[in-house]
Amino acid sequence: MNEISVSAQSPSNIAIVKYWGKHGNQLPNNPSISFTLSRCHTDTQIKAKQNGTDKYSMRFLFEGKDSPKFQEKIEKYLVDNQQYFGFLKGLDLEIESSNSFPHSSGIASSAASMSALVLCLLKIEKIVNQDVTSIDMRKASFLSRLASGSAARSVFPIMSLWGATPSVTDSSDDYAVPLADIVNPVFKTYHDSILIVSNKEKSVSSRVGHSLMNGHPLAEQRYKTARENTERLLKVLKNGDVDEFITIAEAEASQLHEMMATSTPPYKLMEPNTLKIIELVKVFRQESKVPACFTLDAGPNVHLLYPDAFDKQVKQFIKENLLQYCRDNQCIDDIVQQ
Ligand code: PMV
Repeated sequence: MNEISVSAQSPSNIAIVKYWGKHGNQLPNNPSISFTLSRCHTDTQIKAKQNGTDKYSMRFLFEGKDSPKFQEKIEKYLVDNQQYFGFLKGLDLEIESSNSFPHSSGIASSAASMSALVLCLLKIEKIVNQDVTSIDMRKASFLSRLASGSAARSVFPIMSLWGATPSVTDSSDDYAVPLADIVNPVFKTYHDSILIVSNKEKSVSSRVGHSLMNGHPLAEQRYKTARENTERLLKVLKNGDVDEFITIAEAEASQLHEMMATSTPPYKLMEPNTLKIIELVKVFRQESKVPACFTLDAGPNVHLLYPDAFDKQVKQFIKENLLQYCRDNQCIDDIVQQ
């Protein structure tokens, strides 16, 4: 082996039950469940050359340009978790990454980028060890989690559960497990129209946000509710109760942002247009009986979730009523990855 080249694509995901608050080495304080998306993804390629030493080096390029911020993040990840990456010794790595979603959308999906990186690293491990078996996705999820918690969920299609919960025997805080086998067909058709309210970098990062849950006066209640919502959602995912899905999804999104509003110091990531869109979605649902609902990440953009059967109606609603509240009329039309 003189020079090898590997590549991987990995998607973003959107949590319905949210992970917010962690301990130890990226362990979640409550379980979370997400849809795996398909159109928002990261493509990563790693070229590795032997350097004749027992050390490794790496250079990271994002869309063709050096990216010191990501370079530092990846270097730290590899050093902190070096017990899993012994196979990199003696290699010079050139990592190149690009995203499918536009720069101007303000979406920075560490879930997609970190899971794509891990999948590439695991491919290198296979080549170095001359191991022809396929990648162990549980290991991929485990290593992705160590890079960015929510990335643990991106390696499985359709839906994933990360975090131990009583009704799923193989669930774990260490890695995510696929939910595809239990998910009612209706949820496999879900769309996620991402309404881009702002493309600015977040004023408070997720890393800081998680840490503000330590000592938060409402933290224990939040974790209890999230654990209950995980079990409720698992039932809903089996029985296809779309109305109950809406109740859980919207409550979770609201609670996530309430945690931010009541932390010390308090902060808000929603913008006036986020609230405007949420209100319009609720009215649209009431009047049209279309089961569309919203969820939010740690940011101002609104994720509008709905089954494929209502695609036409929802697209028209977005065009006529919501795009005006989006930055540059931007909406990213994503769907669940099969
Ligand atoms: O994976 P992190 O550390 O970027 O945290 C993600 C947190 C949320 O996106 C707000 C919720 C989630 O479960 O994805």
